[in-house]
Amino acid sequence: MTYIIEPKLKDSEFWDEMEQYYDERASEYDHVYSGEGPAFPDQNAYKKDARQISSMAERFGRGSLVDIACGTGFWFPHYSANCDRVTLLDQSKNMLACCRKRAEKTGLSDKCTFILGDFFEAKLQSDSFDSAVVGFLLSHLNPNYELMLFQILSRIMKPDAELLIIDSAWSKQRSLHRQKTGIQKRVLNDGREFCIPKRYFSKEEIYELLKRNDFRISELYFGNAFLAVIAVR
Ligand SMILES: C[S@@+](CC[C@H](N)C(=O)[O-])C[C@H]1O[C@@H](n2cnc3c(N)ncnc32)[C@H](O)[C@@H]1O
Repeated sequence: MTYIIEPKLKDSEFWDEMEQYYDERASEYDHVYSGEGPAFPDQNAYKKDARQISSMAERFGRGSLVDIACGTGFWFPHYSANCDRVTLLDQSKNMLACCRKRAEKTGLSDKCTFILGDFFEAKLQSDSFDSAVVGFLLSHLNPNYELMLFQILSRIMKPDAELLIIDSAWSKQRSLHRQKTGIQKRVLNDGREFCIPKRYFSKEEIYELLKRNDFRISELYFGNAFLAVIAVR
């Protein structure tokens, strides 16, 4: 079943551009996990981090899981066997189509609900999820939206639910090639350019982020390219 959420206006001038960027990038998005077109020239760092986080995701998930901004569903094959139901939500039609294909390929699409639309407009039911995945969304959000994300998570997650955050790490290698926070120019394989807001997280910032939002960390992986953290409320 696929639901569609009606969009509303956002407070960032780059929001529409980001939406379009990911929609157009869908078919080439997964390349990032094999280190193709990387921010810094160490393909092995990307592959290693993707492997480590995949095995973390294999130990994650239970009951009813929501994958927020699921993209192509890259992590789905890793956590899905642990769950009874999986809700996959993304505002990009093309990303969600790739995700559906991936779920069908794994033979587990019967347990999935697909939601096309903006997470911040989605009226997900309170206290309805035992686990949640948020991959590479936080690093695109300004502080208002970051706060809103955690407020919504607190509402929709059951009291003892677990959270898996996966995102971009601020490492020594990264710092030689990227600014920590700012508007980034992204170029697709066909040469089209987009400007999107992006920030990277240090280990300390991840600890602080979860603490101020009342989550306790149970597992943390911090690589040169990616980080992942499992936390409970
Ligand atoms: C960097 S991709 C990450 C995809 C996936 N979570 C992963 O870990 O591979 C970011 C995704 O967030 C989606 N997205 C961004 N803002 C969103 C929003 N407000 N609501 C739903 N999806 C959003 C984009 O369409 C894109 O698919």
